[in-house]
Amino acid sequence: MQTSSQGPRSAAGSSEFIEGIVRGLPKVSLHCHLLGSVQPGTVVDLARKHGLNLGAHTAETLYDHSSYEDLGEFLRVLDVVGSVVRDRDDLYRVTYESLTAGGAAHHVLHREIQISPPGHVDVPYPALIEGITAGMQDAQTDTGITSNIVVGLCREDTPAAARQLVETVIEYRTPDVVGIGLDYAEVKGAPAQFAPAFIRAGEAGLRRTAHSETGPPRHIEVLLDELGCDRVDHGYHVVDDPRITARCVQEQVPFICTPVSSDIGRYSGSGDGSHRRIAQMVDAGLKVAIDSDDPPMFGTDPTHDFRALAHALDYGLEQLAMFTRNAVDACWLDTAEKAALRSRVEEGIAALMIDMGPGAEKTPAAKTRPD
Ligand code: ADE
Ligand code: ZN
Repeated sequence: MQTSSQGPRSAAGSSEFIEGIVRGLPKVSLHCHLLGSVQPGTVVDLARKHGLNLGAHTAETLYDHSSYEDLGEFLRVLDVVGSVVRDRDDLYRVTYESLTAGGAAHHVLHREIQISPPGHVDVPYPALIEGITAGMQDAQTDTGITSNIVVGLCREDTPAAARQLVETVIEYRTPDVVGIGLDYAEVKGAPAQFAPAFIRAGEAGLRRTAHSETGPPRHIEVLLDELGCDRVDHGYHVVDDPRITARCVQEQVPFICTPVSSDIGRYSGSGDGSHRRIAQMVDAGLKVAIDSDDPPMFGTDPTHDFRALAHALDYGLEQLAMFTRNAVDACWLDTAEKAALRSRVEEGIAALMIDMGPGAEKTPAAKTRPD
């Protein structure tokens, strides 16, 4: 095999070639939950530390991602994780591990960490932020990864509780907290009722995103028009409504999709690995970025989500790099920081193109896609 400085490492389109691309691609992570990125061994360790009983669960059995076809079932396992991440040191540890082994090791250059204060049992908000921020700082010192915090409101709580959380976020505001999100089960909390909390957050200068993974498509417009979101987490059902799709294409609304977790949950397709809705979104001209949602809980990682799309949809470096460029556009860094991130991303893509050789940037013809 030729060395990277002499030419292509392997034939364009081969598994080895795709592997080189998905591993080396610079990544920007906008949809990764802190609680969803705790390694199972860490959950077991923390349970032991706090004298908590995980029942029959071991590190091997805790994350049975084949059982997460029902979002509700998955969220209850997430509650178990939340119940063991209980103090400042725990928050430091899970943040550091998520950003280093779960981020920088996959060429993630920047992450906007989605946190869920209501998912933690008995951790006061200031301690939560303090532990997370300390983990972010050490991860940056050790690996160069930069990060910010997006505070998720729980849509299974009352709108009043969500509004109260926004007041807490504002009261204890730090520069790292750049925005809010809305997570947990959409069927239990339609978005419009959270408008007062979102409007208050917007008035305080916080940026806004929200999950919409099960629909209906109309919810996308509620996020944009009533909650003031400037990006959407998931949003696959947008393609069921041509008018809303056309609007989102025209406004270039960023959709932060998570292929592997959503395939298992059957939101982005039929659970067959076809990722057909993501393909439809890309083909429609929507601005799509890719992340991993809850990586170890769904048996994935930041590289693997790109790998899944590269294999299922025949995407080459050109399209995969577009996902990262879209994430740069959609991120909530200030202008100067965003420009610096963009330069790092472009340097990484240019180096990867040289490394992979001719053919790397080309997107092969799309496979015939099932409806
Ligand atoms: N919290 C963590 N992952 C989530 C998801 N996929 N949907 C809603 N809430 C979540
Ligand atoms: Zn999510």
